[in-house]
Parts: sequence; C-alpha cells; structure tokens
Amino acid sequence: MERNFKTILVTGGAGFIGSHVVRLLVNQYPACKIINLDKLTYAGNMENLADISTKPNYTFIKGDINDAPFVAGIFEKYAVPAVVHLAAESHVDRSISNPTEFAVTNVIGTINLLNAARNYWKDNRDTLFYQISTDEVYGSLGSSGFFTEQTAYSPRSPYSASKASADHFVRAYHHTYGLPVVISNCSNNYGSYQFPEKLIPLAIHNIKSNKPVPVYGTGENIRDWLYVEDHAAAINLILHNGEAGSTYNIGGFNEWKNIDLIRLLCRIMDKKLNRPAGSSEKLITFVKDRAGHDMLYAIDSSKIKNELGWSPTLQFEQGLEKTVDWYLANEKWLLGITSGEYQKYYREQYEKR
Ligand code: NAD
Ligand code: TYD
Repeated sequence: MERNFKTILVTGGAGFIGSHVVRLLVNQYPACKIINLDKLTYAGNMENLADISTKPNYTFIKGDINDAPFVAGIFEKYAVPAVVHLAAESHVDRSISNPTEFAVTNVIGTINLLNAARNYWKDNRDTLFYQISTDEVYGSLGSSGFFTEQTAYSPRSPYSASKASADHFVRAYHHTYGLPVVISNCSNNYGSYQFPEKLIPLAIHNIKSNKPVPVYGTGENIRDWLYVEDHAAAINLILHNGEAGSTYNIGGFNEWKNIDLIRLLCRIMDKKLNRPAGSSEKLITFVKDRAGHDMLYAIDSSKIKNELGWSPTLQFEQGLEKTVDWYLANEKWLLGITSGEYQKYYREQYEKR
C-alpha cells in the first residue's frame, strides 16, 4: 500500500544526495510540505537548492541534529509524520582524522531524531523513519561477490562504524518500541552537487585545473557507482512503498577499479576540454594509500528491483559525461566551494601523502 504524507522532514537536504532528494520530493509532491533541516557544515550549500528554494511547499531550517530539544521542537511545530534522514558526516578520509565528530553527528544525531520521532509519534503507525545508509557498513568483500540484505555488518572505517551503529539504533527502536522504520544501504553515488573531496568531483576539478589526480595505493580498489538521481528515485520509492521494518540494498551493478574509472574520466575530460588524447592521464599520480582502505564494495540490488520495480536508468559512461558537463557548466559553484577552507583541507590531505 502506498504511503501518502502531508509533511516530510528531510535531514541533510543541503548536501549532495539530500539536495537531489529534496528537489525530487518538492517537484513531485506539490501538496506535501518538504522541510529541509540542515546545519550547513562545509558539505551543505544553499546553492544546491537554489532552483527550488522559493517553491511554496519547501521550507528550510538551519539547525543541528545534535541539539535534541531543537529537534524535538521541529516535530511538534510541523507535526512531522515522516523523516528521511541523510544528515551525516560522510567522508571516510575525514573520519580517519576526526572519528569523534562522526560518532557525535552520525550516532548521537540519529538517536536524537529517533527519540523525537518516538516521543511525538507515540503509537501512531502512519509514520516512517527512513534511515539512509551505505554499503560500507558491510565491510569489504575479498576479490569478488556481492553484499545482500542478509550480509552481516562488519564496518572497518570510523565513518562506516558510525553509520553501522546508527543503523543498529534504528533497528533497535523498531524492535524495542515498534517505531516504523526502513533502512536502505546504497553504493557510491556520483553526479552534480557532490563536494570535491570525493573521488569523481575531485578528479574532475583537478584535471580541469591541470593539477595531479591523486589515486590511492595501486588504484586496484573497486567501488560500485550509482548516478545520484537514480538513488533519489529509489529513496522516493522506498519512502512511499517500502515495507516498514525492512532493509533495501541500492546499487548500480557497476563495479569499477578506481584506476580504470579515472582513465575513463580522463578520456571524457580530454574530449570535453578539447585537449589532445592522453593529456589528462598524465596527471594521474599514485599517492600513499588510505589507512584501512576497503578493497571491494559491490551491492546486490535484486530485492528492490523485484519488490519495488527499481533499476538504475543511466549507463555509467553516460552518467559520467553528464556529470562532467555539469561541473564544467557550473564553474561558479565549484569555485565557491574550492576557495577558502577547502585549500587548507586539500593541503592537509594530499601534501603529506
Ligand atoms: P554530504 O556530506 O554531501 O551532505 C551531508 C549533509 O548533512 C550536509 O548538507 C551537512 O550540512 C548536513 N549535516 C552534517 N551534520 C549535520 C548536523 N549535525 N545537523 C544537521 N545537518 C548536518 O553527504 P552525502 O554524500 O549527500 O550523503 C548523505 C547521506 O547518504 C549520508 O547519511 C551518507 O552516509 C549516505 N550515503 C552516501 C553515499 C555517497 O556515495 N555519498 C552513499 C550511500 C549512503
Ligand atoms: P570516495 O569518493 O572517498 O568514496 P568512499 O571512500 O566512500 O568509497 O573514494 C572512492 C574510492 O576512490 C576509494 O577507493 C578511495 C579512492 N580515492 C582515491 O584514490 N583518490 C582520492 O583522491 C579519493 C578522494 C578517493
């Protein structure tokens, strides 16, 4: 049975994936009030939602999920029946430098939201707490295989440990208090509005600026890549049609070794920038490996395909071209976030490697 909400609270809606989710919900459900709660950390950016910011069904609230009374107040004030929880610290390298911040936001922040939902919803079951999680909670595959919804959690980075812990709390609130919850675990996303600390936008930015493209270790590590709008469509489907108490894996069946992905990106960049073939590849620089670097993530997304009819719509090369086109056309956006603080972060991450 399809759920129909009058109001949806999205946390982290000014970030990369959140902004695509908010845009989809605002445009597709004009009668539903979409509330975006975001602290606007370095990763949150009001410009990510400039195109929908004046829509009558959209409300932005600047605030911190770590502030429990504030979060509880939002449920009361807006009579929130549904939460799509994306707010998080999301970058593995930052979690290696500062694990505590990840525990605070990703674990305690999630518990604050769960408590607010539980206290406000009481026994109302026409509600849903939707936790957006990652395939990284499953740990690392050896040299082959796929994560299914039955794979045991085995997180190995401070980031994935914090997300796994949050997921366990979400399930615990379902089993202990009967809170209606759903969790999805998605593979690596790419597309527009992604902060250029993650592999693909960082490489696009560096190639464009003729800077070295850092590849960790040997570049043999494998990730499963999904276009962000396909993820947002899956989230919309699960929010409205997913079974409470369930988990759904979301992935692209699209595994790439980092080095092969970067070589493909270099070829696309040469073409788009009218550079001689092979010139971007010369920027590839192998750097010191990430500590505890997981080798392989691959998601089996058969369940969401069979039960809800979702599949990715874009081929990887097509999605990468679209992504490159977007970054090249949105130079102002990119410059806005790569000046100032970003320079310091970049120096700290890469100059020591
Ligand atoms: P992001 O870093 O781009 O955005 C995170 C957003 O959360 C930002 O807008 C930030 O301001 C906000 N935020 C951070 N701390 C907050 C706080 N204390 N209170 C309120 N807002 C806060 O992240 P993303 O890549 O869009 O990821 C979103 C979610 O999806 C995360 O939960 C992440 O674990 C999950 N996820 C990401 C990927 C991926 O490939 N990026 C894949 C699977 C799952
Ligand atoms: P990233 O985009 O940080 O996502 P995640 O760590 O969540 O998978 O990294 C994707 C892969 O690319 C991962 O194997 C690490 C690697 N990587 C590089 O080789 N160089 C880089 O500069 C970055 C940021 C990542």
